[in-house]
Amino acid sequence: MDKNDRISPAVIRRLPKYYRYLGELKKIGVNKTSSRELSEMTGFSASQIRQDLNNFGGFGQQGFGYDVEKLRTAIGKILGLDKKYRLIIIGAGNIGQAIANYTGFYEADYEVVALFDKNPKLIGLSMRNAVIKDIDGIEEFLGKEKIDIVVICTPKSVCQQIAEQVIKCGIKAIWNFAPKDLKMPEDVYVENVHLNESLFSLTYYYNKLNEEE
Ligand code: NAI
Repeated sequence: MDKNDRISPAVIRRLPKYYRYLGELKKIGVNKTSSRELSEMTGFSASQIRQDLNNFGGFGQQGFGYDVEKLRTAIGKILGLDKKYRLIIIGAGNIGQAIANYTGFYEADYEVVALFDKNPKLIGLSMRNAVIKDIDGIEEFLGKEKIDIVVICTPKSVCQQIAEQVIKCGIKAIWNFAPKDLKMPEDVYVENVHLNESLFSLTYYYNKLNEEE
């Protein structure tokens, strides 16, 4: 078993945030940081951060802080960001196009290879370097191309069927934007994205603030 298999999901969920803030420190030329500084940036407690980073063998020495570049590279490696990933997006509407056009992903090595849709008005158009293809050709495409991640941005009525179709072609990772929990075999990893859950939490705190005034 890889030693990273033992890392708890809660720790794994915090790593992207460390990675992002370490990237910001790097951008402004900061070479050393501390758990206290990372705590101020991320909102996690300094002891939580030290505990998290100790999971990976300890990147810093007490009193000397962490080397920003080394820590960022190491976290990137744990997350697998040192490799290249090929994505396709199914459903080239508002969300699908926004993802295809979002350049932030390209800081890490994610390539949107193609989009797929059933709407003839969209088929043939390009989003950045990726062409929107006919969904009818998806199985043939996946038979020929090595794709790591499928992004589902279709209406929820078809997302389960689409997910089943792509896993039949060997896909193991699905980034699902459709508001439905996909039923998938255990060896397929699905990450659901729900902007409205985040908005609802915000709404709750907004109302709390108003109550307190
Ligand atoms: P949209 O209607 O702009 O785009 C959906 C696209 O899917 C259309 O281009 C349509 O032609 C295509 N499509 C429909 N059936 C298809 C099929 N069988 N095969 C291939 N393509 C097909 O919708 P929008 O706004 O982009 O939303 C897409 C999904 O994302 C919806 O399920 C929506 O509820 C969800 N959504 C999720 C959010 C989130 O936070 N996760 C936020 C907003 C929307």
